[in-house]
Amino acid sequence: MLFDTHAHYDDERFDGDRDALLASMPENGVGLILNPGCDLDTSRKAAAYAAAYPHVYAAAGYHPENLEGGVDLDAIEALARENPKVRAIGEIGLDYYWEKDPAKRKYQQEVFHAQMRLAKRLGLPVIIHDREAHLDTLTVVEQHPGVMGVFHCYSGSAEMAKRLLGLGYYLSFTGVITYKNARKAREVIEMAPLDRIMVETDAPYLSPEPFRGKRNSSLYVYRVAEQIAEIRNLPAEEVVRITAENGRRFFGIQG
Ligand code: NI
Repeated sequence: MLFDTHAHYDDERFDGDRDALLASMPENGVGLILNPGCDLDTSRKAAAYAAAYPHVYAAAGYHPENLEGGVDLDAIEALARENPKVRAIGEIGLDYYWEKDPAKRKYQQEVFHAQMRLAKRLGLPVIIHDREAHLDTLTVVEQHPGVMGVFHCYSGSAEMAKRLLGLGYYLSFTGVITYKNARKAREVIEMAPLDRIMVETDAPYLSPEPFRGKRNSSLYVYRVAEQIAEIRNLPAEEVVRITAENGRRFFGIQG
C-alpha cells in the first residue's frame, strides 16, 4: 500500500474527475493520501476531502507564494483544532525562485516563523516548501527545535540533508527523481536513512517519467518508490512498505 504524502486535489485540473479519482485510489494500491493546503481556501478544501474519504488526510497553512492578500493564521488554527484529520501545518516555507523582492522575501520569513510557532502550539509537524532558499529555510527551522517536519520535494544538497536529518527532519521525494538531471537528489537518497524518507507526487505537478508533461495524480506515486528502490538496490515493495510506515508515523496515522 502506497502513501502519497503530498498531492493537491483542490487544483482545478481535478475538477472534472476529483471524486471518481479519489474514490478509486485504494483499489489502485494507494492506501493513503495527504492533501496539503496552500492558503485558507485550499486548506478548507483539503479538510473537506479528508472528512469525505477515510484514506485522505489534510494539512493547513499558507504557501510562500500565496501571501499577497495577507494571512489569517487564526482561521488556520481553528481549522486544525476542529478537524482531527488535519495532521500538519503546510505547506509553508520560502520561495525565492518566484519572489525576488527583498521586502517580500522578508515577509515570507515572518509568516514562516509564525506558522512554525503555530505548529508548535498545536503539537503538529510541518510540511516545508523550499525553492532556491536553502540557507534561509535551514536558518528558520533551526530556530524552532521543538517542531518536527518534512522537506517536501527535497532539492537541497547532501550536506544540508545531513543537517536536517540531524534535527530529526524527514525528506520527501517526487517524480523529479526520475528525471535525467536529478543527480543531486540521487546522492541524498543514497545516504539518507530509509526510515526518514517519504514519497509524494505533488500532483497535479511534477509527473514522473514516463508520464512527464501529463497531469500527475497519486496513481503515479509508485514510480517514485520504484526509483528509490533502484537507487538503494532494494525490492520496490520494500520501499513502498517503509515509506508508507514513515508517513503514518510522521502524520500520526494508526495502522
Ligand atoms: Ni505542493
